[in-house]
Amino acid sequence: MSTPDFDAETVSLDWNDDGTVATLTVDRPDKLNALDETTLRAIPEALDAARDDARALVVTGAGEKAFVAGADIAYMSELDVAGAYEYCQLGHAVTDAVETFPVPVVAAVNGYAFGGGCELALAADIRVASENALVGQTEIDLGIVPGWGGTQRLARLVDDETARRMVFLGDRLDAAACEEAGLVGEVVAHEETVGRAHELAAQIAEKPRFALRGAKEALNQVHEAPQSAGLEYEKRVWSGLFGTPDQREGMTAFLEDREPDFE
Ligand code: COA
Repeated sequence: MSTPDFDAETVSLDWNDDGTVATLTVDRPDKLNALDETTLRAIPEALDAARDDARALVVTGAGEKAFVAGADIAYMSELDVAGAYEYCQLGHAVTDAVETFPVPVVAAVNGYAFGGGCELALAADIRVASENALVGQTEIDLGIVPGWGGTQRLARLVDDETARRMVFLGDRLDAAACEEAGLVGEVVAHEETVGRAHELAAQIAEKPRFALRGAKEALNQVHEAPQSAGLEYEKRVWSGLFGTPDQREGMTAFLEDREPDFE
């Protein structure tokens, strides 16, 4: 199966053999995958290239040490307010694009995930962490605050007290603490991190396509709308799936006591 090409200096996009799972890798290992302007612009382009074909997506960082060590501090150090706002918008465009990517995104947190790296992981649907991972909203120690969604998305995953401690103190949580806090779904041996994320993504990719998209859209409403609107949204997504080939196949297979063969 042919998959769309994507070419950028610091972001790569790779596909599994059957072209259902795309892997976006932030590839700046000499800077621990810190997100500079070029990289921030490339990530949404990579997501666009994967949008039509991917049934699940893995996000990770290149090298042995880092997922993403944050926004590029060297670049940020020179910004004035207007420049900072523009850089902030770029970061938000990245985390928004991950969050609204139409199919589930699995973050393979294979090392440091600080500041914008933590926020990138927070925007994914689910997270697998290396036992070596260290995760934190460490901006306070740079004299700033999380600016790519962390003040909003962190408290969804962890309790409010933990979120406030992380943001006020710049705490760097090790993998066990991340799992305990609910910041990651599971912790695996370092060398298995990306493989485990791929395994989960491949399992997800086997599920029926329209149901997956509908499920993600409906789940995302929790943070977008009051519950009454979210419940209404769920009704529409749910009923809209009736008549799709996968819905017919899934239910027929159950009634015929066999495994479904989804499109
Ligand atoms: N922005 C820009 N460059 C970064 C970076 C960042 N967020 N994080 C790491 N780097 C660069 C370092 O400057 C260094 O570059 P150099 O080799 O040209 O000097 C390179 O990546 C390796 O980092 P180094 O600090 O030498 O590695 P380390 O293993 O000793 O420490 C960290 C790793 C992650 C603990 C440390 O780099 C760090 O604290 N980074 C900043 C994390 C942060 O505050 N992120 C939030 C930003 S909003």
